Amino acid sequence: MKIESIAVSKKKGTPKTRVEEALIVREHGLEGDAHAGKWHRQVSFLTSESIERARECGLEVGFGDFAENIATSGIDWMKIPVGTRLKLGKDVLVEVTQIGKECHARCAIYYKTGDCIMPKEGIFGRVLEGGRIHVGDEIRIFDGSEQGDGRSPEEKEISKRVKAIKERLGKELIILTHHYQRKEIVDLGDFRGDSFGLSQRAAADRSAKYIIFCGVHFMAESAAILSQDHQIVQIPDAEAGCWMADMADKFVVERAWEGLTLVTGPDALLPVVYMNSDADLKAFCGRHGGIVCTSSNAEDALRWGFSRREKILFFPDQHLGRNTGNSLGIAPEEMILWDPHRELGGNSADQIRKAKLILWDGYCLVHTRFKVEHMEEMRARYPGAKIVVHPECTQEVVALADAVGSTGYIVKYVENAPPGSTIIIGTEINLVRRLALECPDRRVVPLHDSLCPNMYKIDLNKLLWTLENLGKANVVEVPDDIRRDAKIALDRMLELAPTQSKANGKRQQA
Ligand code: 13P
Ligand code: SF4
Repeated sequence: MKIESIAVSKKKGTPKTRVEEALIVREHGLEGDAHAGKWHRQVSFLTSESIERARECGLEVGFGDFAENIATSGIDWMKIPVGTRLKLGKDVLVEVTQIGKECHARCAIYYKTGDCIMPKEGIFGRVLEGGRIHVGDEIRIFDGSEQGDGRSPEEKEISKRVKAIKERLGKELIILTHHYQRKEIVDLGDFRGDSFGLSQRAAADRSAKYIIFCGVHFMAESAAILSQDHQIVQIPDAEAGCWMADMADKFVVERAWEGLTLVTGPDALLPVVYMNSDADLKAFCGRHGGIVCTSSNAEDALRWGFSRREKILFFPDQHLGRNTGNSLGIAPEEMILWDPHRELGGNSADQIRKAKLILWDGYCLVHTRFKVEHMEEMRARYPGAKIVVHPECTQEVVALADAVGSTGYIVKYVENAPPGSTIIIGTEINLVRRLALECPDRRVVPLHDSLCPNMYKIDLNKLLWTLENLGKANVVEVPDDIRRDAKIALDRMLELAPTQSKANGKRQQA
């Protein structure tokens, strides 16, 4: 396995210029390259075999034309899972973070080549250790044999310092980690869970002065709302947001509410907000008799809502709402989509009057990547395997799954599956890879690679920095009035009788 070509470009979306050697900078990428930076696709790879195939199809292409940084030979990238570490030459260590990418707009490469193989065959990685690489350098899969456990000396040092701080502070400090966090973060946490479990834990803890939340912002914000006054919640990266949560804000929801209640009357409608939302939307629910839900109690929350009012406005995730509506037996024609950019959400007054469930037009880009084709391909490749997916997937994907549930449910599903069985999972890749490592006597396979870049923003460096700045760095604060009203809606959720997720009526088979 070796490096066949190295290429850099100053502008994204353009072919790259070949060079004989290059400097790769830690946590950045190739020096002077437009794709380098603080994100998870710092370096890109393509096999020279892929480029050759494109040539055989009649395209006049060469190294660098697909904007790949490094063309390789002798590696079947399709067999290399996300999370694999690769040594390039003597010094450089890269971790594979993504396989393939969405191509939203046709760029100069598409127009030059007539096609682009990067969306399917490109491999992307993050630089853990920098150094110089040259054409002809060897590429090796880094299995840790050189260093003991596959962690770089720097990572080991950071973990040691995190552990020392934890030991010094004892019960004064608690680190909560969501299931989508990287393995090295989860390993340092005190409690890992789904968003419901983590909010329960934040609400129950009385002894910690500092709660460090390794997850995305809406989760840390909910922990801050549920925590005690003497507790301080911090998030290692304040920029770790959620695309879906950004699809609804207070102003558009208030406008939708006004439009809807003009048609339904003030007492027919109740709001149910998914945990993946800003605090002021949870506060909106608190003020309007509504409730928060997570993917592990959406059914119970909808039942709770329907026992009080005739109709529910569910936001921001249309898919969790629709999958839950399906499992409660609500007819498709009684569920309508609310497009916040259109008059009456794109519905007639009559459709609104007939609807039971009004679904906000929001979605998760990580989960809507899973497609029916992936289900069919995996069923053919692994006959007898079980497929379990998260309810943020589309109803078409959920309909073909054996089981559906929250991240906590998926973890239990794999743990309870018989040894020797194969489980295919449709959720964020960090969780799937970790489960594969933790349950070696079961075969755990991703339905498709899909990484949440927001969850991925939290890393060891940022965790250590937060711990070295306790009470100061990235403190999550919620204004008092929002906190009070949001807590009403969150407390209603916590009071719901806990039941296992079984959206679409699919219970765990294992
Ligand atoms: P869970 O509630 O299942 O942990 O999911 C949170 C989430 O953001 C899924 O994308
Ligand atoms: Fe948000 Fe989707 Fe990431 Fe979950 S996976 S945090 S819904 S963007």
